[in-house]
Amino acid sequence: MHSVQVQDLTKTYKTKNGLVEAVAGVSFDVAQGEIVGFLGQNGAGKTTTLRMLTTLLKPTSGSARVAGHDLSTDAQGVRRKIGYVAQSGGTSPAASGRSELVLQGRLYQMNQADAVRRADQLIQEFDLEDLADRPTVTLSGGQRRRLDIALGLTHRPDVLFLDEPSAALDPQSRSLLWEHVRKVRENYGTTVFLSTHYLDEADALCDRVLIIDKGRVVAEDSPENLKAQLGYDIVTIELATDADRAEAVLAQHPAVQEVKAQAQGLRLTVEHNDRVLLQFLRTLDEAGIEPLSIQVERPTLDDVFLSITNRSINLPGQQPMNV
Ligand SMILES: Nc1ncnc2c1ncn2[C@@H]1O[C@H](COP(=O)(O)OP(=O)(O)OP(=O)(O)O)[C@@H](O)[C@H]1O
Ligand SMILES: [Mg+2]
Repeated sequence: MHSVQVQDLTKTYKTKNGLVEAVAGVSFDVAQGEIVGFLGQNGAGKTTTLRMLTTLLKPTSGSARVAGHDLSTDAQGVRRKIGYVAQSGGTSPAASGRSELVLQGRLYQMNQADAVRRADQLIQEFDLEDLADRPTVTLSGGQRRRLDIALGLTHRPDVLFLDEPSAALDPQSRSLLWEHVRKVRENYGTTVFLSTHYLDEADALCDRVLIIDKGRVVAEDSPENLKAQLGYDIVTIELATDADRAEAVLAQHPAVQEVKAQAQGLRLTVEHNDRVLLQFLRTLDEAGIEPLSIQVERPTLDDVFLSITNRSINLPGQQPMNV
């Protein structure tokens, strides 16, 4: 069964400088209980799509069904079945997490006693016991994000939309957050649709990734399949001397697609082949070259992104990420 079905959804903004095609026509399905990630650079159209699917923004054209309700004819029905955690979060700084959770329950028509009970339950599930009674402004970024997600789950939605849930969190807080998201799916079968520009997040958390570029979905598959489809591995060889000779002999090998010299040796793009390291070692040995080290890596999601869009997702000034 599908939780989300999207057909040719577009959003065009009129600005002083002309039309901005924020979402240029996206179509995709998300199955019940799936965790799907929308992976794209800044400005790719992730938030715009999420805001359309959560009824906050009217599409320019196209249609969608979300949690069994039609977006254009039954926005109210959609709203009742979904939770949305915005990119910027939504807690008021002076209120405590607990009071925010109770208020959220009341907004969804729970009576006071039920709202209090639900708040207690979420506080426990999200390990917020020691934090829930402090003003939210005093929470760390990761703690506040956990509270944001708990808020989005107050009314037990079928589909949870998360816009960049772990942006600006340190690696530990991010993996903790992923654990919580996995637990939500495990315990309640909730469908999760999230946006991210973190490749490791997409890789670690998502069953399926949709790569969005300039308002279009340019690839969709499981992280494993996306990487496998590239069909090549990266071999790095560390050499103290003879880099030029090594480059010349290895370039002859039929599996080698590309050789690049780098500071400590060579970086080769080679056809996927389990025996390639042995063959390289033999070739180098025959030429009397002894490498310091040699290692093979599967392509990363960044390589996938690069091959599809011709650009790395790692933005200027960001550390490249290994996945
Ligand atoms: N109200 C608006 N008016 C004009 N252009 C807009 C408006 N909102 C968004 N855009 C443009 O639409 C494009 C997509 O924006 P969107 O916020 O969906 O990107 P995003 O993928 O969420 O990026 P980020 O990773 O930075 O959050 C951008 O070029 C943005 O400048
Ligand atoms: Mg965004």
